[in-house]
Parts: sequence; structure tokens; C-alpha cells
Amino acid sequence: MMNLDHALQEISAAPSLEALHTLKVQYLGKNGLVTQEMKTLGKLSPEERKEKGRALNEIKEKLTAALAAREAAIKEQALQEQLEREALDVSLPGYAFPSGGLHLISQIQKELLDIFRTMGHSVVEGPEVESEFFNFDGVNMPEWHPARDMQDTFWLQPPEGFTIQGPFGESVNDLGSALLRTHTSPMQVRYMVQHTPPFKIVVPGRVFRYEQTDASHEAMFFQLEGLVVGEGITMADLKGAITELARGLFGAEGRVRFQPTFFPFVEPGAQFAMWWPERQKWLELGGAGMVHPNVFKAVDDYREKLGLARAYEGVSGWAFGFGLERLALLRYGIPDIRYFYQQNRLSFLRQFRN
Ligand code: FA5
Repeated sequence: MMNLDHALQEISAAPSLEALHTLKVQYLGKNGLVTQEMKTLGKLSPEERKEKGRALNEIKEKLTAALAAREAAIKEQALQEQLEREALDVSLPGYAFPSGGLHLISQIQKELLDIFRTMGHSVVEGPEVESEFFNFDGVNMPEWHPARDMQDTFWLQPPEGFTIQGPFGESVNDLGSALLRTHTSPMQVRYMVQHTPPFKIVVPGRVFRYEQTDASHEAMFFQLEGLVVGEGITMADLKGAITELARGLFGAEGRVRFQPTFFPFVEPGAQFAMWWPERQKWLELGGAGMVHPNVFKAVDDYREKLGLARAYEGVSGWAFGFGLERLALLRYGIPDIRYFYQQNRLSFLRQFRN
């Protein structure tokens, strides 16, 4: 006869479900101890069989109950351990996800566009892959003009079947080679071909020059172009607008200075600087002037070719263009233009997070 107390002890001490299963087989399995005992009942007298049968059944029930109880206990313990393992401490600090911000040049562009919007200018944009016609000839820089040397150019060899489109989607492949625009001025011509005066626009955009880069020159940079055309527009209007820009950027003390200079697409032409009150110095920003009659003529000739009426006789206009990076360099005392894109230095750019 087996020892029930010993068996119950073994069961209640079983460390795992596997160990418990082994015990179950050992006592109650097909060849288990209790089953073996059951098999001997047939050899006993009816009296003995009845008594021993009852005793064995009792043992079997006790073992079964003990096995079930232990199984439940082991499972409960496993669950508790799992809960502890997976417990979430909601008081711990969370993960810090890095968040982006606008590039300094994008911030400046936005600031400039906001100032011009308040002066009633529309914001328009043009293509970066441009035709020689809009970039040069149309703005009074014909092929023989020495001023073309001022803007070293990335010339392109477009693939077979590539067309550069004019303002109305027409192909302008026959008007010259393809290039990466060297300034935003080609949008002057595109816009004027498509619209009749009066209007006020600003054109932000990326431009490209085939230049050796240094602390103040990049091969890719951003310009902002302004153009106002109508009847009786004068240099005084230009000065007023640039002064307003200076006040928008530097506050009530903002002032501007014009010095005569040459650009083929303006006459008279000027370079302009802004007074930076904080540092008490002039910032040379860009070029400006009154739209050259040859630009209006090129626009009207183009319109005529498309069957549109000439629209630029008897009007006048002013234009300006300047580099956003130069403004940023001067305004923030940044030593090298290459920090912006070539090096794309995060440690630098993060200082201007908005
Ligand atoms: C022009 O590009 C003229 N289209 C501007 C203009 C428009 C004049 C309308 C008159 C009327 P310029 O080549 O000087 O001009 O360039 C204008 C500005 O772009 C410069 O003053 C400077 O701020 C910036 N710039 C020129 N080259 C570079 C360069 N390599 N890297 C960074 N900024 C540059």
C-alpha cells in the first residue's frame, strides 16, 4: 500500500506543471500506483474488496483534488510573476522623441514674405530648370553681353524629348539652352508675359551658380525678387518699399542706403544696404532699380508672338533681388555660409530653432 501523506506532500511541493504531471502519471496513470492497487481488488473476498475499494477511491479523490489545487496554485504564481515582470511604472519619464523645426533660411523667407504680403504683394514661384531666354536674353543679357560673366552658370543637357515650358505651357526649347536659373529674375519675364499691369509680386526661390564656394559664396542659395509695375511708378516707390522692409526686419529705426551700380535689367540701377541698429552698421543686401525698357520690350515681343496685345508701353516699374543667406549671415553674425547646406550642421541649425 502506498503512503498517502507522502504523496500529498510531494504534490503540494511540486515546483512546476511538468513535475506535477509526472506525479499524476506516477499515482493515477495507467500503470500508476493507485491503478495497480485497483487491479488487485478482483482477487479479494467481497468483504475485503468493498472496504479496500472504498479506501482506494478516497485516496484517488484526495490525490485528484490535491493535484488540481497544486496546478491552480502554480498557474496563479506564474501569472503573478508575469504581471510583476510586465508591470508599467507610469511615474517614469517618457521617451523624448526628437522634433523638427524650420531651417533658418525657411524662417527668414517666411518673415520676408509676410512683410511683403502686408504691402499687398502676391507671392509667385517659378521653375528652377530654366531656359536661357528667360534667365538671360529676356532680362536684357543677350549672349554677347559681358554681364553674363557675372553669373557663372550650370548649363544642362536635357534628355531627348525634354521640353522647357513657357508661361502658358508652350515649348521654349528653340529659344536657347537649358540651365539652372542663376537668379529669380526670369520670373519677372514669365509673370509679365502672363499678366497685365498694374501688379506687385515677390518671388522667393532657389538659384544656382557655378562658383567656387567660400565663406560667403554657395553654389546653391535662395533669393527674393520683388517686382512692381504700373503707371507712374518711380524710384521713390522702390525706396519706400525697401525702407518698409528694413523696418519690418529691424524695427522703427530701420533705414536704407542706395548706391549706383549696374545690372543689365534695370536703369537706373542700385545696390542697397540696410542699417542694422543693434550693431550700428550697414548690411549690403542686393540689387535693385527701375525695370529696363528692353525687359518690357522683350515681354511685349513675346506676348505678341503668342497673339497677345502688347501691355507694357507707357508703364514703369521697379525690381529688386537679394540673397537670403547673406541677410542671415549679416544679421546673426554667422561666420560661414557653408554651415547652412554643405555642412548641414545640426548643432548650428538648432540654435535657430523656432
Ligand atoms: C542678381 O542676381 C540680380 N538678379 C538682382 C537684381 C534683381 C538686381 C532685380 C536688380 C533688380 P547678384 O548677382 O548681385 O544680382 O545677386 C544678388 C544677391 O544674391 C547678392 O547681393 C547676394 O546677396 C546673393 N548672392 C549672389 N551670389 C551668391 C552666392 N554665390 N552665394 C550666396 N549668395 C549670393
